[in-house]
Amino acid sequence: MKQQAIGIFDSGVGGLTVCRELMRQLPKEQLLYLGDTARVPYGTKSPVTVTQYALEAAEFLCQQGIKLLVVACNTASAVALPQLREAFKVPVIGVLEPGAHAAVSSGGNRIGVVGTEGTISSGSYGQALLKLAPDAAVFSAACPLFVPLAEEGWSDHSVAHQVAGEYLAPLLAEKIDTLVLGCTHYPLLLKAIRAVVGPGVILVDSAAATALEVVALLECAGLAAVDGSGGQRFFVTDVPTRFRRIGMDFLGSELQSVEQVHIG
Ligand code: DGL
Repeated sequence: MKQQAIGIFDSGVGGLTVCRELMRQLPKEQLLYLGDTARVPYGTKSPVTVTQYALEAAEFLCQQGIKLLVVACNTASAVALPQLREAFKVPVIGVLEPGAHAAVSSGGNRIGVVGTEGTISSGSYGQALLKLAPDAAVFSAACPLFVPLAEEGWSDHSVAHQVAGEYLAPLLAEKIDTLVLGCTHYPLLLKAIRAVVGPGVILVDSAAATALEVVALLECAGLAAVDGSGGQRFFVTDVPTRFRRIGMDFLGSELQSVEQVHIG
């Protein structure tokens, strides 16, 4: 399968929400997923550290022979895309621009963005949104406790509802009409987030938009698998037990093969 797979990485299980969409939209493709579980979270670390981790994750996947790299992590997409594009020959797709496109296409113009501290302090979402919709008002909030809650599987727990209430109150005070889930872990907290924002706010998850961009790029570059039977391999940098257990909720199905690897 050398040179045939699509490589995907995240700091942990969050990127499996993107992997799930790719499996749905591209059932013939081989997917190689790396969760850098030994070093999660990325969201609280500096851009220099996250860039180094992202380069090491990409290096590992490129060594497996991939034709396309999907950075299924908003934090790494926010701070490391230019370096990744410079360092590797394969096309690199991040989740941030597809997320911004999806938010703007939904028609909202008071747009809230939630993400990790790294993503929010990079200002990358604001820039991407205002480039597409210069008249939009953008409000953002870092939600550092969302990642451990999602990793813990506490997606509909009362604690998740309470934390979501605290984090989202300032955005709701700004009367947002759209909320971008700017972290691939956050779709797991959808119930708690929806309960807090109510039915009137459009929730944007970049996973589906990213998968659409991957489909378009594969077709345009003539790289799409024509008669493959599809399949996935999962790699983690810490022991796989927890990833396999929590990952099921993110992927929506059992993870067949999870191997521990050393990177960096
Ligand atoms: N899922 C990641 C993101 O989209 C990173 C979470 C983390 O490692 O802090 O930003």
